[in-house]
Amino acid sequence: MNTLYLIDDLQAARKKLAFPVGLVPTMGYLHEGHISLVRRARRECASVIATIFVNPTQFGPQEDFAAYPRDLPRDLALFEQNGVDIAWLPEQNEMYPPDFQTWVNVEDVTQPLEGKMRPGHFRGVTTIVAKLFNAAQPDRAYFGQKDAQQAVVIRKMAEDLNFPIEIIICPTVRESDGLAMSSRNVYLDPAQRQAALVLYKSLKAAHEAFINGINDAEQLRLVMSDTISQEPLAKPQYVSCANPETLEELSGPVSRALISLAVVIGKTRLIDNLLIGEV
Ligand code: PAF
Repeated sequence: MNTLYLIDDLQAARKKLAFPVGLVPTMGYLHEGHISLVRRARRECASVIATIFVNPTQFGPQEDFAAYPRDLPRDLALFEQNGVDIAWLPEQNEMYPPDFQTWVNVEDVTQPLEGKMRPGHFRGVTTIVAKLFNAAQPDRAYFGQKDAQQAVVIRKMAEDLNFPIEIIICPTVRESDGLAMSSRNVYLDPAQRQAALVLYKSLKAAHEAFINGINDAEQLRLVMSDTISQEPLAKPQYVSCANPETLEELSGPVSRALISLAVVIGKTRLIDNLLIGEV
């Protein structure tokens, strides 16, 4: 594995890579979710570039940028073990030089859900992902369904800006008890870790209700809110039953939906989602 830092070095190395090239963008502190993206890219592509960059512009002023967990030696070992060809660790100054003033902004699909709770977050995500795409010029790029809105936003950006890149969304990887893997799970103490199970429990309760014939969007949101309210440590920020493409909140009977939620436990904000209904 080649570990590179500068855009020039990446682009020189990129020219020698066999087609198709897969890109796995990450912020590091890797877990099985990230590794599943690397493995899929390895299976589907002749060459794999994986990145680690904790992107400051997608964190709000009150968020955990400074405290975001980091473990570079372990991450690089995991990339190497899973067949990454190039680990690219962009430099902060190169990605955002002092006179940086250009942003990528996707409009409607960034407004609800995470976009509402985290103003500016998606502008940071789309700007850095566009920069990673431009520098690495992959044929395919891999992201997780865990960040469902991010997946929708990146697809839209790639479509609208004509990036010739296939966006591949991989299933959420869960702990054996159902908790969706996230680098932020490390913040949870044992009681909070137990309480965090309420996210998946709420999604499953809504999914089960749907399978049993409750297909009214408001009812499905109620099933999730009721389940969360049974966990004293959980403070819900939103529960949603939305159109999986437009992310608009649904009302009345639904045949398919993205059900999602954001919950704060202690100081940790967790999100999770399920796609329900016809695919
Ligand atoms: O999903 C993430 O880890 C980040 O949002 C991404 C896509 C690497 C951009 O910083």
